[in-house]
Amino acid sequence: MNSILLSWSQKVPNTALILLISVARMCYSNHFCTHSSAAFCPFSLTTYFGTKTRYEDVNPYLLEDPLRVNRDQELLSDSCTPLQMIAVIRHGTRYPTKKQIKKLKEIHSVIKEKAKGNTELVTDLKTWEMWYTDLMDGQLVAKGEEDMKNLAVRLASMYPSLYTQEKFKNGQLKFITSSKHRCVNSTTAFIDGLVQNYFGHQKSQVDGLTDMDCAQYVINDELMRFFDHCPRFMTYIEENDTAMHQVDAFKEGPEMMRVLEKIASALHVPVSDINADLIQVAFFTCSFELAIKNENSPWCSLFEEEDGKVLEYLNDLKQYWKRGYGYNINSRSSCGLFHYIIKKLDQAVSESNSSQPISSPVILQFGHAETLQPLLALMGLFKDEEQLDAKNFARQTHRKFRSGRIVPYAANLLFVLYRCDAASTPEETYRIQLLLNEKLLPFPHSEKTVSSYQELKEQYNTILQSCYFKDECELPVIETSIHEL
Ligand SMILES: *[C@@H]1O[C@H](CO)[C@@H](O)[C@H](O)[C@H]1NC(C)=O
Ligand SMILES: *[C@@H]1O[C@H](CO)[C@@H](O)[C@H](O)[C@H]1NC(C)=O
Ligand SMILES: *[C@@H]1O[C@H](CO)[C@@H](O)[C@H](O)[C@H]1NC(C)=O
Repeated sequence: MNSILLSWSQKVPNTALILLISVARMCYSNHFCTHSSAAFCPFSLTTYFGTKTRYEDVNPYLLEDPLRVNRDQELLSDSCTPLQMIAVIRHGTRYPTKKQIKKLKEIHSVIKEKAKGNTELVTDLKTWEMWYTDLMDGQLVAKGEEDMKNLAVRLASMYPSLYTQEKFKNGQLKFITSSKHRCVNSTTAFIDGLVQNYFGHQKSQVDGLTDMDCAQYVINDELMRFFDHCPRFMTYIEENDTAMHQVDAFKEGPEMMRVLEKIASALHVPVSDINADLIQVAFFTCSFELAIKNENSPWCSLFEEEDGKVLEYLNDLKQYWKRGYGYNINSRSSCGLFHYIIKKLDQAVSESNSSQPISSPVILQFGHAETLQPLLALMGLFKDEEQLDAKNFARQTHRKFRSGRIVPYAANLLFVLYRCDAASTPEETYRIQLLLNEKLLPFPHSEKTVSSYQELKEQYNTILQSCYFKDECELPVIETSIHEL
């Protein structure tokens, strides 16, 4: 490392050198960049991994202390009483899917069979051991369990009056999950985190505490995987070969071509042997090795920061057209989930207003990036003025819609309802805050980080009045089908 710095020092200006040294230090202190061929520390790439971003790269203070709570923001807790928290949580860090593993094998073979030259990069990639197996297919990894346990402890310490041991023991903390393995495992890991927090033991070691009492969860795919249950979405988007045409066009566009040519030349393989999908999986492998094993893998050395930006945009384009603002049905398919959340908030308001105990003070819902992204779009969050498309990569440099910021692993959207008895008007008695990834999220209509509950409902009145899952998701009856029968 030192010799690299010395030889570069003759060429690069001082400020750049200082930056380089500080990046190198930062990496050393975290035990990264130990890989000898890494010209670039993966830190320059970590914020471009899109939906494969580590939660710690959104909240870097967690790298030092995974249980630290962000207290540099104004939660209402001091002046008001939290009544209820409803959370929509993405599962923790996971393995690549079967499909990704297949593509990884493909590019690895291309490199093993065709790459020439004796560079360290080529040698390292040729000798890299393929350790992913089909059985791993998208499952939660051990790090993913940690993500959930730590999140549980942090949320419990942010809102101690909601997450009391008594409420937990009485089964008042409700858990709802998608049926996917990684979500169910995330739910049980989250519960384990709470148990350890309350009792300092594993669940199995706490007397009289079994899954039967407090730690039950309900599987509900209609709520947490609404996209699979929405025929209009399935037909118009999921099963439609042309719905992702902006994504496909970007894969063939000039930005992506430059990345392909650069990588082909570094590997000494014909550019016709690789394509955008294979390069994307190589980039994801860099992210997986970092997220799963905390390693700076040789796959990372294929990319420079500029390439990372292009691959991030490719990932964001897909999220935008498949889960975000690209098509209306993407967000409309989440109406049922939104209605459910408001129904539960209404119930808590009404219970509090008639001096009854809150029946569900905490509702924790475990799903996917594909659950959160449409819901955020339905609520009008992270909406850019201009749409994301294949041609405006450069103009979208400062876009709001960055999946890596919004839905990293373990992403969480919190609705926190408060009762404020000192309120000046009755409408101000019930207030709500939104937090995304433990940071206060300004409401799109006011840019403020708190809203009266009434104002929130007025703001979303159209959705509450007109957006019904069944109507939105129904396919129109096709007349010709009658004749075909
Ligand atoms: C997830 O759950 C399954 C089934 O209960 C279990 O076999 C597997 O080890 C779990 N994985 C993790 C990472 O907890
Ligand atoms: C597929 O998507 C394209 C582009 O949005 C659209 O024009 C077309 O109607 C869709 N086809 C179906 C069958 O939904
Ligand atoms: C609370 O109850 C009072 C009296 O029953 C009623 O007038 C008021 O509208 C209720 N407020 C809310 C927010 O439900």
